[in-house]
Amino acid sequence: MDQVKIFDTTLRDGEQSPGCSMNLKEKIEVARCLEKMHVDIIEAGFAIASPGDFESVKTISETIRECTIASLARSTPKDIDVAWDAVKGAADPRIHVFIATSPLHMEYKLRMKPEQVLEQAGKMVAYAKKYCSNIEFSAEDATRSDPEFLKLVVAEAIANGATTINIPDTVGYTTPAEMRELIEDIKGNVKGAEKVIFSVHCHNDLGMATANALAGVLGGARQVECTVNGLGERAGNTSLEEIVMALRTRQDVTGLDTRIDATQIHRASQTVYNIIGQTAPLNKPIVGKNAFAHESGIHQHGVLANKKTYEIMTPESVGIHVNNLVLGKHSGRHAVGSRLEELGFVLTKDELDRCFEEFKVVCDKKKNITDADLEAIVTHNTNQIYADDEDGYKLDWFQLSTSNFTTATCTVSLLKDGEKAQDVALGDGPIDAAYNAIDAIVQPSEHTFDIFNIHSISEGKDTLGDVTVKVNAYGRTFTGRGLSTDIMDASINAYLKALNRMAAYEKKRAASKDASDGSRIRATDAAGEAAR
Ligand code: KIV
Ligand code: ZN
Repeated sequence: MDQVKIFDTTLRDGEQSPGCSMNLKEKIEVARCLEKMHVDIIEAGFAIASPGDFESVKTISETIRECTIASLARSTPKDIDVAWDAVKGAADPRIHVFIATSPLHMEYKLRMKPEQVLEQAGKMVAYAKKYCSNIEFSAEDATRSDPEFLKLVVAEAIANGATTINIPDTVGYTTPAEMRELIEDIKGNVKGAEKVIFSVHCHNDLGMATANALAGVLGGARQVECTVNGLGERAGNTSLEEIVMALRTRQDVTGLDTRIDATQIHRASQTVYNIIGQTAPLNKPIVGKNAFAHESGIHQHGVLANKKTYEIMTPESVGIHVNNLVLGKHSGRHAVGSRLEELGFVLTKDELDRCFEEFKVVCDKKKNITDADLEAIVTHNTNQIYADDEDGYKLDWFQLSTSNFTTATCTVSLLKDGEKAQDVALGDGPIDAAYNAIDAIVQPSEHTFDIFNIHSISEGKDTLGDVTVKVNAYGRTFTGRGLSTDIMDASINAYLKALNRMAAYEKKRAASKDASDGSRIRATDAAGEAAR
């Protein structure tokens, strides 16, 4: 069957959007999920944006061997040099060069005449081609460009060696019919079009990103750019899970498929949500909690008689394992181990021991342990990105006094290097009081609070609370996570972990005198500045 390539840009378009920044370990974790899912191309970042971005594109290029790795570059020699430097260690590197082609972007952002854009596009594709055979060219804001001019630019990029031509709907403006027609027009009327793969990159401002991407495919595109959970600038990009399952579920319409192992979708979605400290909206297609739930009597009756009445795809096909068996304090190590195996976790003996220990702690506080609880326990106890800094502060105990008519007061006792330190503080609510007491002991460097997020893992008032804290300093984000049936305990641990990570970074920074934390360039914001 004819295949559509999946180009994942979670680590570039997704990561550059507010509230979605990731550190190196987190990016590697996402890249591993994408490789496991058999994504064709991973856009690992925008290498010139900051030293941190360069480092992550380079590390991912050297770590992931089963996918093509791309770095974005504006149409300037400097951007392309840096992009190549970052991806050259990949098994199959790609440089992704872009320039805007719409009248608005050319006049107000690039301050360039169309002839200059045309020339620059050709020159920079040729420049990138000297480094690498695999060159993608994107005409930013293509759907608001003059189609005749767009075709000239595409022809120029092809003539200079581009192997993939991407047609972005940068501001989520187009409609499915227009997208299909545009791709058909370009494919049918541009010299050399038969030599390249056409790609679509759709934003979701009007909620049509997946529909537009699918329409582009029907028009002849054979690459779709997308992100896990649809992350991305503003309302996001086409979501990977939606386009993959749309292509698979409606093969009768498209006659096409992807290489994606869809059973990895649930895990990848959870990983990305955990990393950015968010959860899926309940009704989000494919990955939301209700995506496969049948609540109404009529629906339940239909599904019991024949699943296909209300189910167009199975939860198992996207890696959701429906299970009515709940574990509890009488479940042994073997039962926990085999359920984890069924859920697709491959754990070492040490990891299983750690998880079982934690499982027993949770069982003392919570009667029934669901799959979601188990998944959270495993993630918090085996995943590198959740690990705490060995040398950092640990919680010894806390005591809280609060009411709806007094100011919250919290005393915190912390341990570090075998020493105890205590302090007490007031706060605007219990968490603020606890964090003020921690600050009084740790005396952290100046930082801002980017995210404080609590979510419950399962139903019921004895649920585990999963807390994510992201603090920002030195232009970097430091993340900490805590999991407990007591949300104060989880909140304190999450904040301590974030501060410990910040302190570890400061130590490393002081040691290497690495003061290379320039401010980041966002792909779209700085495109003009670079082209001028
Ligand atoms: O939305 C867009 O146009 C982009 C390009 C840089 C490909 O993200
Ligand atoms: Zn984009």
